[in-house]
Amino acid sequence: MDTQTSPDITSRDRAQSWFYSDEVKDHFFHPRNFMTDDMVAAYRDASMGMVGSPACGDMMKVWIVVDPNTTQITDLKWQTFGCASAIASTSMMSAIVTENGGMTLDRARQLRPQDIMERLGGLPNRKIHCSVLGDKALRAAINDFYRRTNQHEKIEIEHGRIIDPVLKVTDKDIEEAVLDGAITLEAVQAKTKVGTGDPSCIPEVEQLIRFYREKFFGADQA
Ligand code: FES
Repeated sequence: MDTQTSPDITSRDRAQSWFYSDEVKDHFFHPRNFMTDDMVAAYRDASMGMVGSPACGDMMKVWIVVDPNTTQITDLKWQTFGCASAIASTSMMSAIVTENGGMTLDRARQLRPQDIMERLGGLPNRKIHCSVLGDKALRAAINDFYRRTNQHEKIEIEHGRIIDPVLKVTDKDIEEAVLDGAITLEAVQAKTKVGTGDPSCIPEVEQLIRFYREKFFGADQA
């Protein structure tokens, strides 16, 4: 399809516009590995992770079946109340994780939002926060696997680090603000007030905004 002229999509370079690639549409209309309600009982013993999005209130559940000898994820199912972008990106994530016999747990933990984005041919910037939901639920499911198999030392909890000691704003708060579309210091401050009490943290805040902007939206947005 010609991505320059179709009415509802545009090139990735014009990243502020509503871009839905053919791949996104395909995964939205034909989601892979979706968990229907009648399948849930059969996955009672699978490891499960559940997360919600502070940006929109939607939630995501991911179930994984792991081969204990190879640590490969041989099966992955998911459910969400999220939007079309969340459905398409989680469907693609499930396909990537289970292809070629399944990723190992270590490799799956390193899966980045850009890996999913690249295979999808991009998403509108305002929809990037939807795409990380599946990814976060996957990491929660991996932790659940280690919990169920008594490998507690391998559980990784993503703690926030305090960046603004006066207002107790963490790097996770800044990450969520960037994911929600705040990509300048002013926009992040409008959401979090970071640095308004003690401006000495602002250089670090600016560095984090650059880091998350590049992580979620790519170098062209930095
Ligand atoms: S998942 Fe909530 S807006 Fe996309």
